[in-house]
Formats: sequence, C-alpha cells, structure tokens
Amino acid sequence: MSENPRAFAPGFLFGAATAAYQIEGAAFEDGRTASIWDTFSREPGAVLHGDNGDVACDHYHHYPADVALMKELGLDTYRFSVSWARVRPDGGAVNQKGLDFYKRLVDELRAADILPWLTLYHWDLPQAIEDRGGWTVRSTAEQFTEYALSVHDALGDRVQNWTTLNEPWCSSFLSYTAGIHAPGRTSVTDGVLAAHHLLLGHGQTVGELRARDASLDLGITLNLTVAEPVDPAVPGDVDAARRIDGQFNRWFLDPIFRGAYPTDIVEDIRAVSPAAIAALDEATLPGDLEAIATPLDALGVNYYHGEFVGGSPDPHAPASGDAPTTREITSPFPSHERIFWHDRGLPRTNMNWEVDPAGLTTLLERVWREYAQPAGTVLYVTENGASYDDVVDASGSDAADGSGAAARRVHDVERTVFLRAHLGAIRDAQDAGVDVRGYFYWSLMDNFEWAWGYGKRFGIVHVDYDTQERTLKDSALEYRRVIAARAIDV
Ligand code: NOJ
Repeated sequence: MSENPRAFAPGFLFGAATAAYQIEGAAFEDGRTASIWDTFSREPGAVLHGDNGDVACDHYHHYPADVALMKELGLDTYRFSVSWARVRPDGGAVNQKGLDFYKRLVDELRAADILPWLTLYHWDLPQAIEDRGGWTVRSTAEQFTEYALSVHDALGDRVQNWTTLNEPWCSSFLSYTAGIHAPGRTSVTDGVLAAHHLLLGHGQTVGELRARDASLDLGITLNLTVAEPVDPAVPGDVDAARRIDGQFNRWFLDPIFRGAYPTDIVEDIRAVSPAAIAALDEATLPGDLEAIATPLDALGVNYYHGEFVGGSPDPHAPASGDAPTTREITSPFPSHERIFWHDRGLPRTNMNWEVDPAGLTTLLERVWREYAQPAGTVLYVTENGASYDDVVDASGSDAADGSGAAARRVHDVERTVFLRAHLGAIRDAQDAGVDVRGYFYWSLMDNFEWAWGYGKRFGIVHVDYDTQERTLKDSALEYRRVIAARAIDV
C-alpha cells in the first residue's frame, strides 16, 4: 500500500469523457441521418456563430489516433456516447455500418487496455422521432429501449459499463421548456413530459439489459448541484435553495431511488402550470414509477459548480460589468418566486461558472448518504471540467517529429489547478466514507459545446479545428503524472 494519504485505491478509475455529436463529425456518413442537433444547429441564432457538429473533431476518422492519445495519458477508462441516428437512422432499422464504427472504437480501446464506458443517449435524438413527438410521447421511451438493445446486440460481448442517459435535466427542461437546447421547444408541459419519458426509457432499458445479462454494470448520469442559501436565516433564500435542489437534483434522484416525484416541486409546478401536472398524471401509467426505480449499479455524478442563491438580488452588487456579481436565474423549471445567483468571491471559468471543489465533496457525501448507499449503488464522477481561453504557443523545447521546430504547448494553469482540486475533493469524500470509484474529466478534447459552439474549450487536449491537430495541454501532462502516481501529491 502507498504511504501517501492522497493516493487513490488501486481500482480507482481515471478517465475522460466525450459525446458523439460533440466530437464525431461525419454527420451524414455511412447511413447516419439527422438528429435534433443537426436540425437545431441550423436554426439562425440557436448556436453561437452558427456552428454545428458536421465535422467537429472528426473523431469518426481520427479515432485510432485519439485512442493512442488516451493510452499516452494512461487513462484507465474512456466515456463516450453512441449516436442513435447512426445506429438506427431516422429511428428505424439497424444500420450495420453505424454499429461497426462503435465496434472498431471499442476494440481499439480494449486493445489499448482502456475500459469502454458507453452512454446510450447524450442528447442526439433522431430528428424523425422528434417529428413524431420526441420525448413528449411515450413511444419514444419504447423506441429508446429498442435502440439500446440493438447496441447491446452488437457490443454486449465487449462492453461492461452502460449508462442509459446523460443529464436528463438538459434533454428535458433545458431542451423542451427553456428552448436553449435542441429541439428548442418552450413549453412547461413538454419539459415535464420529456423528463418522465426519459426516465421511463431509462428504467425500462435497465430492466431489459439486466434480464439479458445480470453481470452488466448499469447506471445513469445526472447533472447535480449544491444549492446554498445566501442567508440561512432568510426564508426567501432558503426557499430559493430548495427550488434549485428540487429541480436539478430531487426531480431525478427521487423517482430513480425512491419511486416518486418530490411533492414540493410537483406543487411548485402546479402553481404555475396546472396543465403540466395534469399531463404528467395522465402520462404516468401504473408501473411507470416502479420501472423508473429499477435498481442501479452505478450513479454517475456530473459536477461543474454549485449555486449560491437568494430570493432577492445582492443589494451591494455593482449595476453592470462583464462578470456580474448577481443575476436572476431564469430557471426553465417554473416557479412564481424569483431566484437570484450571488457572487461569493470564488474564481470563475470562462463559462462564468464558479470553481468550487469543496462543493463536489459536499455533493458526493449527500448523494451517497441519502440515495446511493441505501440502494447499494456506487458513485462515479462521470463529468467535471472547465473551459478557459486557451492559447497555443510554441514554447516547448522540441517537436516530436524531429523537425527541430518548437513543440506546441498550452499552458492552461487554471485548468490544471481545477483538475487537481477536484480530484482532491473526491479523496476528501472518500475519506468521509463515500464509495466513489472513478473520475472522468470533461473533456478529453475541445469540442462542440452545444449552444456555445466551438468557442468554449473544455479539453485537456487542444483541437485545431482547421487542421484537426491535437495538442496535449499542460493539464493533460499533469493528469498523466497523477494517473501514473495514482495520487495527487506528485
Ligand atoms: C455536460 C454535458 O454532458 C456535456 O455534453 C457538456 O459539454 C459539458 N457539461 C460542459 O458544459
């Protein structure tokens, strides 16, 4: 055993994550048809600078070199997603060429001794299914299970770790109520129905996969947060924190682990949209909540930042500025009461997100004690990362090609600090008794950041979108050192 108190247990998985639409490109190759993101990204004003995922990181063609990079970093595992529109174009018949791509990728990973961690749905619904109602209709949940089983037919013999959904809050409320993500709808009822059918598709799929192979490792990934009231003595602040916690965390954790939607949030929604709750009641058939609560092996926690919130704006905040110190959270999840985000002086990324590693420890402890531990489910941090304005320079000593040219370097000091701090937060949670068994940095490489397009870079590997050249940032070199030492203090 290592003497280092900051060492990770030998089986701890160090990984990195990506998603199909964000990196693959080859949008219409080998039979793939449009997903809702192909459509949405073409709508004027939907995505910054009109960017789309047609080419992205062209990972569809560069995957062998990308896996080689993962190997060079020493990754234990790689989390990727499968494109539904590639595997079942238009949501219809199985497309062998689409499946073959994922077989090649998985085989490449396994040959490199990297554990493939497969996500079935990372937001790219086939457009043809959206045209028939998308996630607001029940048949989409059924189709999701059929699609999942066809992926399992092809990869079940070589993939052990399966995640049904990535961040269903985003693919429901952000997409069907806020209109910020594809398909860009703006209806409270649609968001509530989408969330229900996503969860139903998740639960049914877990049940079917488990029935096929009891040895699979099955889970879901949620975007969770820590909501702290500005003043715990002010009821309006406490209530703002309750509502944030309710919409992001409990709306998903409660049905998954307890088989019921949180009643306080049901009532909050009913107060602004009785129709939405009536629609949810009608859509919830006998057995749905039991299916949604099908036991899981793994809960994936995606954590980026916490929320310091109040029921009123910070009265001391300057009226304007590039990085405001208070703003209203225009939650897609409705409420009559307003919620205001307050600054607590933490550093921020270029998404304007706070860097709050201690929040990750708090979150893991809470989710473990209240949900995962009682259910016998273990935790993984399936995403955590930061976007900064990276600059490529030529300050390295030698290019690897022997040309004598200076190597390209990206001195991403802030991301390096961020990565180390969040790994430290996980060790703290482990010391407090939380069973968290892995960490996936988001993202392996810079990619299409949804409504922000290519302007935001989260990668530890820099991507030059003109040449598709990959450059390991300093954060990647640091991650490699940490992984090799299997400890933070190196
Ligand atoms: C969560 C999502 O799963 C991922 O697709 C996204 O790029 C990152 N967060 C960063 O916003």
